[in-house]
Amino acid sequence: MKTNAIYCGDCGDMLMNHFRGGCVDLIYMDPPFFSNKQYEVIWGDGYELRAFEDRWKGGIKNYIAWMEPKLRECHRVLKKTGSIYLHCDWHANAHLRLLMDEIFGGNNFRNEIYWYYYNKMHDYRKKLFARATDTLLFYVKDANSDSTFNMLEEKRDKPVKQLMRKKVDGKMVNVKDEKGHVMYRLRDKRIVDNVWRLSMLQPADKKERYGYPTQKPEHLLERIINASSNPTDVVLDPMCGCGTAIAVAQKLKRRWIGIDVSPTACRLMVKRMRKLKVRITENDVIGFPKTLGELKELKPFEFQNWVCQKLIARASRKKVGDMGIDGWIMGTIPLQVKQSESVGRNVIDNFETAMRRKGKDKGIIVAFSFTKGAYEEVARAKLENGAEIELKMVKEILAEE
Ligand SMILES: C[S@@+](CC[C@H](N)C(=O)[O-])C[C@H]1O[C@@H](n2cnc3c(N)ncnc32)[C@H](O)[C@@H]1O
Repeated sequence: MKTNAIYCGDCGDMLMNHFRGGCVDLIYMDPPFFSNKQYEVIWGDGYELRAFEDRWKGGIKNYIAWMEPKLRECHRVLKKTGSIYLHCDWHANAHLRLLMDEIFGGNNFRNEIYWYYYNKMHDYRKKLFARATDTLLFYVKDANSDSTFNMLEEKRDKPVKQLMRKKVDGKMVNVKDEKGHVMYRLRDKRIVDNVWRLSMLQPADKKERYGYPTQKPEHLLERIINASSNPTDVVLDPMCGCGTAIAVAQKLKRRWIGIDVSPTACRLMVKRMRKLKVRITENDVIGFPKTLGELKELKPFEFQNWVCQKLIARASRKKVGDMGIDGWIMGTIPLQVKQSESVGRNVIDNFETAMRRKGKDKGIIVAFSFTKGAYEEVARAKLENGAEIELKMVKEILAEE
């Protein structure tokens, strides 16, 4: 197992294939919620089209069946003294609690933490109380072992007067001054309990925001990591998104491992860690698609993002209907991406029309291969209309790496 590394792939498979049992101190897992939404997102930088899937078909039973093997792997890789925090929203928390009890054991359950994000905008036309909490299910691997736990304090809004007490002959008594009056002190801190009043990220939080739709704020992860790990411990986030957990782990001097099935998310983690001056190259991302076969298996938006990143293009803002233009190289050269073999004459023809509509006479089409007819069509477009269309094969892009 490599630490300070990013693994690209299904977390159940990655843990099974790359991690021995009992090697991780803390797991934070923030799975896609049980909802039928699919998010397609223009990222915070405003350029690259990225997509984020948070979709589940087939009901809660399927969702729980999908989660189970991943959580069992988490249980296996956790050290005896380790802890796990499973982040749930209201859709599935009751079901996940039962599953966690089954896998981790009810006696190893520690807390149901309510993250109260008081600053979320609500639609008050709905006939229900505003939903302003997520639930974090906190379990230890083994309640009988010496699990890591550091009590935390937080600042109070207003200081409170607290009786001063001391131990005399094994008994707690009030502290008194020379005149016999009980003494007080002002306390501006309190011990953190299981209700965490922490703001959620807002569009204005530009420094921290990466535009990932379910990105969590760093202060939430700071609490978890400070409470349940110590410096140099290994922190794992098996569904790491844009890398909040690993970024905080790095800042708090822990070792870290981020896993995500989405290459787009993994690339973003690389970017985020580099911002923190961590030396990480694409080769440090285990499982990142590197072969033609792996690239063919990518989801269409992931493939499009991969091509755009390689050609230093920005993806079109519109996912569909941008007249067949999937991206722009240097903001001026239209790009079309086809995740298929034997791309033919008609694609070239349509792309030429799209280029013309945008007032361009140069463009690039990327595909796994092109037919002879496609090359003939490119020659015709050049001869008749002066259009310069480059046909670029994916294997050429791979060879340029
Ligand atoms: C709710 S988001 C995590 C957000 C993250 N906590 C953050 O702050 O950015 C869930 C993530 O799980 C990832 N995911 C979904 N299925 C996965 C799987 N089978 N293995 C690993 N990651 C997966 C998604 O790609 C997504 O990035």
